[in-house]
Amino acid sequence: MQAKKQSTLKEKKIDACWLKYGLIQDLERRMQYIKWGTNIAMVEAAPVVSTACTELTRGIKGLLGINPAVHLTLGPIEELPCVILGILGKSEKFDALLKQSDRDQIQKEGFRIKSIEARKENCIVIAGKDGKGVLYGVFSLLRFMQMQADIRQLDVLENPKNPLRIINHWDNLDGSVERGYAGRSIFFKNNKVTRSLGRIKEYARLLASVGINGVVINNVNVHQYETRLKTKEYLSSVAKLADIFGKYGIRLFLSINFASPIELGNMETADPLEPSVLEWWKNKTEEIYSYIPDFGGYMVKADSEFRPGPFTYGRTHADGANMLAEALRPFGGIVIWRCFVYNCLQDWRDYSTDRAKAAYDHFKPLDGSFHENVVLQIKNGPMDFQVREPVSPLFGGLEKTNHTLELQITQEYTGQQKHLCYLIPMWKEILDFDTYARGKGSTVKRIVSGSLFKNKYSGISGISNIGDDANWTGFQLAQSNLYGFGRLAWDPDLSSQAITEEWVRMTYSNDRLVVDIISKMLLDSWRIYENYTSPLGIGWMVNPNHHFGPSVDGYEYQKWGTYHRADFAAIGVDRTVKSGTGYTGQYHNEVAELYENPDTCPEELLLFFHRIPYQYKLKSGETLIQHIYNTHFEGVEQAIELKTQWLLLKDKLQSEVFEHVLERLEGQIEHAKEWRDVINTYFYRKTGIADEKGRSIY
Ligand code: GCU
Repeated sequence: MQAKKQSTLKEKKIDACWLKYGLIQDLERRMQYIKWGTNIAMVEAAPVVSTACTELTRGIKGLLGINPAVHLTLGPIEELPCVILGILGKSEKFDALLKQSDRDQIQKEGFRIKSIEARKENCIVIAGKDGKGVLYGVFSLLRFMQMQADIRQLDVLENPKNPLRIINHWDNLDGSVERGYAGRSIFFKNNKVTRSLGRIKEYARLLASVGINGVVINNVNVHQYETRLKTKEYLSSVAKLADIFGKYGIRLFLSINFASPIELGNMETADPLEPSVLEWWKNKTEEIYSYIPDFGGYMVKADSEFRPGPFTYGRTHADGANMLAEALRPFGGIVIWRCFVYNCLQDWRDYSTDRAKAAYDHFKPLDGSFHENVVLQIKNGPMDFQVREPVSPLFGGLEKTNHTLELQITQEYTGQQKHLCYLIPMWKEILDFDTYARGKGSTVKRIVSGSLFKNKYSGISGISNIGDDANWTGFQLAQSNLYGFGRLAWDPDLSSQAITEEWVRMTYSNDRLVVDIISKMLLDSWRIYENYTSPLGIGWMVNPNHHFGPSVDGYEYQKWGTYHRADFAAIGVDRTVKSGTGYTGQYHNEVAELYENPDTCPEELLLFFHRIPYQYKLKSGETLIQHIYNTHFEGVEQAIELKTQWLLLKDKLQSEVFEHVLERLEGQIEHAKEWRDVINTYFYRKTGIADEKGRSIY
């Protein structure tokens, strides 16, 4: 009894993030909403629709301070204002509330919200063609209320642009989270699956509220215990998680170890072309589906960073992925196969190998040879989630293979949730990037949504930034990256500004000053972080292994080398076709030509593509070396300005929140100074060229 009480208390402290649903203070608005929100009618209590109804009730209770009546038929409320939700095609009366053309426009997982103000039909309709659509519609209506919009004339049609919208966890069974900066895993502890299911439900709510429909619960690096997740020992507890997620329209996936037949099945081989191996996977997959009927499928990191894979048997990635796809096909599951494959031990003397080229070199030749239920997952850049990278040339390179974009929400290289670095503007640039695969307008967002190449499966995945910290993300402002990821995955055409405002209003308040200041801080923060860290797309100047803080030559002199090749005369890697590694040749002509020439190469990527002498004049008129000095001094000033801005909000926010963010921003300033000094000093001493403005460089 005692223990139970404690755990509820502990769970109570968990931050509700953007689902706080505080009472709306504006009485006029509240009364407008109360008119509709006093009665809810649900057309059919299908599983996800029931969830939607519960969520609407919960939201209304908080926002309006009333307990709405829930009706299971339309009869008694015909003349009352109410919110009616349901799946179309179940009740003629319900369907008739929307015109045929309104209904026809709704697609899978999409919804329509319509306010109907007529004497008899006074209602707000939330309709979908499936339960998920209804659930997303409910969260959308609640969002309007949280933002205090006028809902009398709503007519909203939304269909998700990306079919797959998946969160990837890098959680290990021992409870650690690879690249996690917000505490321990919410799923695992001491090599067991958690029994704290309350927390999992809160997480499912957060994810569903932004339209996420898949979750991979364990790390792509699958070790001994994680390999056993798909055995009897674990499956019933994994099924409990799947059940919670399922109620919120989210399918559960597992990362698997390609060598499982050897490790679990005592077989001598995991060769994908060996019939007994396929047989083993078929049986295993059937067993998983007997526990989890809506299991999503497998996530695979193979032949990468010492993970096993088909190369051991002289087979290709297509052989490996297709074998798993065959096992999953009868159940409607998919294989998500990662393209993060490269030689991680490149010798420093080797100037021909180029990590940037690796993914394309491995996968482009296999385009078209994957089964229909295989999806390749491609990191946004050709390297590894640096603060600035070009877009991977596999986008626009692959035409006949399903693929998704992999983004990193967790801030591995972008300040580890100690620095403010809001990633939505970066992701928008990636999504808007034009690959020219089918001429102008062949943007990444059109490719990953499946609209350009008409792939069956496509979408966006993000590496989670959450852990068991009470505020989920360590730094509370980093919640915005999770929120924004979901919103962009749902609709990549939303503007950064709009997403940011939504988040601030839902999380903190609708107060104009709060909205303006926090939005601006977030929207500026990626550039600020870039300014005081590594310059012009060169990347990698971080401490090896943990990747926090500056170390210019950390990777330069490591066996895991990823090289910037700085010497006294120049810095950067020549990746041109003319004189370098030939990487630029992996892009379509229009893009390749731009990158090939330093004069046309976007300057923020100059050192990624070219080796440039320090006295080279940039378009601003500054030399490269002066640019490095200037941006690093400026970055620190900007970090200080973040704090100055935040201080203006002292009386507008809860003191706990105010102090927490202030503390992080102060830490960021000190750390930015360290970055500035380490980088500037390094280049000053390499080049002997003084700062034109005579500032202190050690
Ligand atoms: C990065 C990261 C690793 C991770 C890997 C991956 O290299 O540092 O922790 O395992 O990416 O994406 O597989």
